[in-house]
Amino acid sequence: MSLLGLELNNKRLMRLSGGEKPEGQRQMKYKPQDMLNIRARLAGISPEAVQEAMAVNAKLPAIIVTRMTKGGIGKTSITVNLATALALSGYRVLLIDADPQASATNMLGIETETYHPHIGTLLLKSGDKPDELREFIVPIFEDGFLDLIPSDVELDSTNPALIVTMGREQKAEEFVLRNREFLSKNYDVILVDTTPGTTPVSVAFTYLAHLTGKILTVVEPEGSCLRALDALQFNLEEVQKLAKRPIDLAILVNKAQIGRKHVEHNYAILTKSYPNRILPVQIPHSIAFTRQINADDVPSSMPVLLKDPNSKAADSLYHFARVIASEFNVTQPGFVANS
Ligand SMILES: Nc1ncnc2c1ncn2[C@@H]1O[C@H](COP(=O)(O)OP(=O)(O)OP(=O)(O)O)[C@@H](O)[C@H]1O
Ligand SMILES: [Mg+2]
Repeated sequence: MSLLGLELNNKRLMRLSGGEKPEGQRQMKYKPQDMLNIRARLAGISPEAVQEAMAVNAKLPAIIVTRMTKGGIGKTSITVNLATALALSGYRVLLIDADPQASATNMLGIETETYHPHIGTLLLKSGDKPDELREFIVPIFEDGFLDLIPSDVELDSTNPALIVTMGREQKAEEFVLRNREFLSKNYDVILVDTTPGTTPVSVAFTYLAHLTGKILTVVEPEGSCLRALDALQFNLEEVQKLAKRPIDLAILVNKAQIGRKHVEHNYAILTKSYPNRILPVQIPHSIAFTRQINADDVPSSMPVLLKDPNSKAADSLYHFARVIASEFNVTQPGFVANS
């Protein structure tokens, strides 16, 4: 069971899920709700108690913002697969695509021009009245667990608009706090994919990360990427001064090509410069990632976890998701650790 990181035999799994194998099907296919039931029963909690706790939950979801100053290192691939892994494990996930390139949106098979409402509209609002979020949210799975606020190239116009807005750094936090009730009841975790570089929109989401105390960053162990990491650290220090709260880095090494001399050298520099911040998992360089977005037929696009679920890359992504759930304290109402 790579989703849970547990070795359980099929009979026990089926009993814990509360499901039955459909007639004629060789293997049981577990849906996110089955995975949630399995995790609940393994923790000694009834799935009904979890549902009841969800209905009255007031704790904000965990927030995972992915940032990197350099482009093309795999932010979107990692964030979308992380969202998918957590949803397939039975966590209720909201993914916000905060990059006008809309790669996360496309990777989930959504054509950008069909959707106009994007997160920029919500960032520019003021006041305490909750937003009507339903018109912004696109469900990705039939049975829930993975929702998306898609992006659109028009989101880019939010950047100049924010520059002339007072308190622009707090705008993502204001959005979350005024929608606190809806978000707490419906989601266990919010993930945000941001644009490369440092823009007013990405700074607002970095500020939001003070609620969790860290952001996720993705690097390749090569020279220009290490310099980009220093630039991100500088920006983070500025945002921390404003938030008056620490915001740490959780660093994921992506496209890892172990054994190459210059890679080993740069990895040594990375661990020396950012001790204790490098996650204990790496994502290997794999061709599976390049097959995710089909530019000629966007609706057929899918993250690695759905397109190549039995690949080595998928295994490492599940491992990564388990590490992240613990690092960012992703919990669910009704489970003991949820306080
Ligand atoms: N582990 C990997 N192995 C091989 N290719 C990868 C891996 N991760 C990502 N890629 C590829 O690298 C390219 C950039 O990936 P992605 O779009 O996820 O990066 P990004 O940092 O979000 O880019 P941008 O800065 O434009 O937002 C894509 O072609 C993707 O398929
Ligand atoms: Mg991207």
